[in-house]
Amino acid sequence: MIEWKDLRGWIAEVEKIGELARIKEETDWDEEISGITYLVGKRKGGPALLFDNIKGYSEGYRVLSNILGSSTKRIALAMGLPLNLSELEMIKMLRDVFKNKIPPKIVSEESAPVNENIVMEGDVDITIFPALKMWHHDGGRYIGTSDAIITKDPETGHHNLGTYRQMITNKKQVGFYVSPGKDALLHREKWWQQGKPCEVIAVYGTDPATFICSAMGFPSNVSEYDAIGGIMGRPVEVCKGKVTDLLYPANAEIVIEGIAYPDNLQPEGPFGEFQGYYGRPGGLTPVIDIKCIHYRNNPILTAALMADHPSCEQNLFFGIARSAKIWDDLDRMGVPGIKGVYSVPSAAGGFGMVCVSIEQRRAGHAAQVLALAAQCSAASYYTKWIIVVDEDIDPTDIEQVIWAMSTRCHPADDIDIQRNTWSTYLDPTRNPPEERPYGSKTLINACKEHKYLKAFSKRTRLTEQTYKKVQKKWAKYGLSFEVPAIDAFEPDINS
Ligand SMILES: Cc1cc2nc3c(=O)[nH]c(=O)nc-3n(C[C@H](O)[C@H](O)[C@H](O)COP(=O)(O)O)c2cc1C
Repeated sequence: MIEWKDLRGWIAEVEKIGELARIKEETDWDEEISGITYLVGKRKGGPALLFDNIKGYSEGYRVLSNILGSSTKRIALAMGLPLNLSELEMIKMLRDVFKNKIPPKIVSEESAPVNENIVMEGDVDITIFPALKMWHHDGGRYIGTSDAIITKDPETGHHNLGTYRQMITNKKQVGFYVSPGKDALLHREKWWQQGKPCEVIAVYGTDPATFICSAMGFPSNVSEYDAIGGIMGRPVEVCKGKVTDLLYPANAEIVIEGIAYPDNLQPEGPFGEFQGYYGRPGGLTPVIDIKCIHYRNNPILTAALMADHPSCEQNLFFGIARSAKIWDDLDRMGVPGIKGVYSVPSAAGGFGMVCVSIEQRRAGHAAQVLALAAQCSAASYYTKWIIVVDEDIDPTDIEQVIWAMSTRCHPADDIDIQRNTWSTYLDPTRNPPEERPYGSKTLINACKEHKYLKAFSKRTRLTEQTYKKVQKKWAKYGLSFEVPAIDAFEPDINS
């Protein structure tokens, strides 16, 4: 069971492992905090940043950015895993973590830390929180980036948590931008088709397990609340909404309750997005009219910077978590011989490229993996490049993957294209932007040719005998570094 019970508990653990920087110098919500975050994000494993002196805001109103960043340790801490795992080991362990499901537990409004302050309708002012303007051409200040938006399916009563961006449009209103096909959009449409407004809760200042699960796609009959409980090893404590029929996390930092109406659209965006571009141009977008705000004393607003690699908040955690989900999808579909799956973090938010390594078991195996990895539910959105490699290639090592593509793939025979696949308005590659929800995918077979597997050129490898000889004499060669480890040897013909 995870010991920390909220964002503050997790931050304390992060500080213990030396990965928190407290910024006491005055900083500006207007591009300065995001600028610092962008630059710190360039450093592998750079610290989480807690800003506690924000221009125009009283002390205690804090912002946490570079939350998980490029630190496998912070991601492991968030998911209750050992801290020193490789990415592939984390992916394997996460598959089991995601299988655990524990339903939430309702607690009283009075007992919930997030209810230390409750502000109702007329007094609502969302600008009391130091929301960031992140990029120069952003359309406004974004309060919702590392958030969880909670909606309910009017037909099944199923609660969904999703991370969707939210721009402040006025003191009592935030944007509600959701990409086509995402759960909150499907819920919203269903309410409106029934002639009813859509109730929404938004959580800002989520604990990292809630953030990770909200950013993941779970099947529509699985509530993210159950998945978060599964990670924590105990039920998520939730309260019944004050003005909505929705459940919100009792330990969150800030929660808003509100209503989205079909005829209420406001200008939203542009916003510097996960690809490192201002995705779609600004446009009219549904909004949430805020009816109630709950928040803790000295609230911490979490902020996820969207940027080019490596400074994009979601790249590493999302790439790792998505890899585990894709592997699971392939397993559920009965695909044999999977040795590793990697949703490459640098490929635009961990969305753009998926590598799968397999032990080829039969004719057509690689083609099956490519087709199913391209369209399984965890990978169907956005992914542009799907690459299958043999089991001797570590899919988390992109240089090994490139080597396999350059030595085992014959482009004229081994590349297929899928057209009109699921994409997003944010993809800058299609114009005019109205066409962007339709994407395309490249399927690359970088495995040794199955038909000629036995005759395929042998890989050059050191024998174990040679390796050990060199290892023994290493110091005598006068080299100043350790002898590198290697993962496989050529069978020694003399042994
Ligand atoms: C930091 C961050 C911001 C995101 N912003 C958006 C967004 O504005 N709109 C959107 O549709 N998806 C956004 N996503 C992706 C969704 O959170 C993700 O696709 C998730 O699966 C959505 O939940 P759902 O599957 O329940 O719809 C974002 C993800 C992250 C990590």
